[in-house]
Amino acid sequence: MAMFCLWDMRTVLRLGAPSTVTLGMYFLAIETSCDETAAAVFTEERAILSNVVASQTDLHARFGGVVPEVAARAHLQRLLPVIDEALKRAGIRLDQVGCIAVHNKPGLVGALLVGVSAAKMLSLGLDVPLIAVNHIASHIYACRLAAEKDIFPCIGLVISGGHTALFHCRGALDFELIGATLDDAAGEAFDKVAALLGLGFPGGPAVEKEAASGDPRAFAFPRSFIHEDRLDFSFSGLKTAVRYALGGPNAAHPAPPGPGKLRSDLAGSFQQAVIDVLVGKSRQALEQTGLGRLAVGGGVAANRTLRSAFEKMVQEVQAELFIPPMALCTDNAAMAALAVEKWAAGEFAAMDVDAVASLT
Ligand code: KG4
Ligand code: ZN
Repeated sequence: MAMFCLWDMRTVLRLGAPSTVTLGMYFLAIETSCDETAAAVFTEERAILSNVVASQTDLHARFGGVVPEVAARAHLQRLLPVIDEALKRAGIRLDQVGCIAVHNKPGLVGALLVGVSAAKMLSLGLDVPLIAVNHIASHIYACRLAAEKDIFPCIGLVISGGHTALFHCRGALDFELIGATLDDAAGEAFDKVAALLGLGFPGGPAVEKEAASGDPRAFAFPRSFIHEDRLDFSFSGLKTAVRYALGGPNAAHPAPPGPGKLRSDLAGSFQQAVIDVLVGKSRQALEQTGLGRLAVGGGVAANRTLRSAFEKMVQEVQAELFIPPMALCTDNAAMAALAVEKWAAGEFAAMDVDAVASLT
């Protein structure tokens, strides 16, 4: 009961301007939305002082995908040491932190809850404001961080394991969803095709490596909605097409091919189909909105062939491309520096802020 009263009081306090904001402030950010336990320290000027990521890949590899409960339990074990390490690398003490930022959506709820609970505890214990940040918006904000200059207004494309979405980003805090996948995310398709081809987990980097020696035109895989104006995506048909190409229409569970031309051609042709769709839809979004800037974030943006294809496309349409370095593409807490914008706008979270699975 006493705890409830305390939280209630803080909730009321948080609705007003925080009393503890100081200039030259340090932000501590936390990310636990999926299978990376991450913490970062940055300043209100967006200088990244540390960015620590503890990957759980080893824990999930034998299951061929992320197991939500395993992820949540691993976050519990790892989060405090990761925060300690982030503070140490930044060269600051915990009591110097002036604001706590946390990704509270979207993601695996059990996993998110670990980060959100820790963030609330830190906010209360240090008596500093709490800011809740949307993980998908952060993926785009990683472009702003890397560019070290304003990138808005722009088209934002997020291509991760759980989402594939296009946004009209009018400002750092003003994103309109203009297209999204109707089924699988691009990263999910990479992971599932990697499993079909026996390439292991996580699939994206493995498929990219295999595709390097394959023929991207060996198989004519589908490119959903490519000739339509709509800005949506669909990757489940592509995934099924790879299955059929591997085992024929009746092969429910085709055996993975061994190393060789078939495997690399399948990987290369699949990857090219994904690239054509992602680049094509981004181009349409630029043309339909008349915007001249494209910001691409999320784990799939680490793919080198995709990055080259984006570079070529923006040259053709004379647009400016922003893609973060690899370490800021995959999940991390530094990209939660979007909190600096929310802090400036006075968008603080109350103590009852929740972990939410969905994007909106
Ligand atoms: O953004 P992210 O780290 O986590 C989520 O928020 O989901 O994205 C992870 C996804 C995984 O599906 C992974 O296979 C994919 O990004 N990925 C890649 C590459 N590196 C990671 N996909 C294609 N090529 C890559 N090099
Ligand atoms: Zn992500």
